[in-house]
Amino acid sequence: MSKGIKFSIRVLLVVMASMGAAQAADGDPNAGKEKSAMCQGCHGEEGISAAPNFPNLAGQFAKYIERQIRDFQDGRRVDPMMSGMAASITELQDLKDIAAYFSSKKRMKGTPGANKALAATGKDIFYNGNPDTGVYACSNCHGENGYGKDAQNNVFPVISGQTKDYLMKQLNDFRSGDRHNDPAGMMGSVAKKMTPAEIDAITEFVSGM
Ligand code: HEC
Ligand code: HEC
Repeated sequence: MSKGIKFSIRVLLVVMASMGAAQAADGDPNAGKEKSAMCQGCHGEEGISAAPNFPNLAGQFAKYIERQIRDFQDGRRVDPMMSGMAASITELQDLKDIAAYFSSKKRMKGTPGANKALAATGKDIFYNGNPDTGVYACSNCHGENGYGKDAQNNVFPVISGQTKDYLMKQLNDFRSGDRHNDPAGMMGSVAKKMTPAEIDAITEFVSGM
């Protein structure tokens, strides 16, 4: 990439960041508690979900939550239950408050599954990937502990301690292309190289982290 292009992208990012700031104040978790009453029906009052196919939101990055809701609103990500829920949030300040609320909760924590051998295979994939097939190690992008990247990022989510059913569905959706809202196709390119057996193993490990 030429220096000129790099420079204009940086300027654009700074301009975009300041535009966001002008539109709404930072999210207020206290205000978000009440505003998210409907969401808590599925995602739990503490952000720990009521059923394994609903993701945990506890301790997830606020900016990642915001981005996912915008993606549901704009149709970049589609789900029969969530698309309508996202559409019900019409004010940017409400979205920021709700995201801040779930993000402020004690971070989701896994319960190790019964199948230790399967989890051990998953652990190997998490830290080493599969060099034979070009699957990158998850730790490269989701962090050594699966806690994602720095708190301000909106791209690399917390995955450790997420429910196994939800992890499975997302990996299969990225693999099939049903979910394709990942910037630069980063996650799809990983999932498309994975076998169903690897997905079973990695989700056994990550959901128990
Ligand atoms: C009827 C149950 C239900 C309700 C109510 C609900 N959700 Fe969801 N939510 C889901 C399901 C199911 C998914 C997973 C969709 C998928 O498989 O891609 C999801 C996914 C999400 C995600 C993406 C999580 C991730 O890790 O990428 C966010 C963020 C979210 N919901 C926020 C909310 C908010 C905010 C509300 C309230 C306005 C809400 N949800 C209400 C069921 C629900
Ligand atoms: C090259 C970077 C990269 C690598 C390597 C990577 N991921 Fe991801 N992953 C991402 C990005 C980026 C997203 C967020 C997509 C979005 O913003 O919608 C993501 C999202 C996910 C999600 C969805 C989380 C949610 O809350 O909905 C899961 C699950 C996931 N990754 C699992 C894995 C696993 C397991 C591995 C290792 C096999 C892995 N990832 C390797 C970049 C990566």
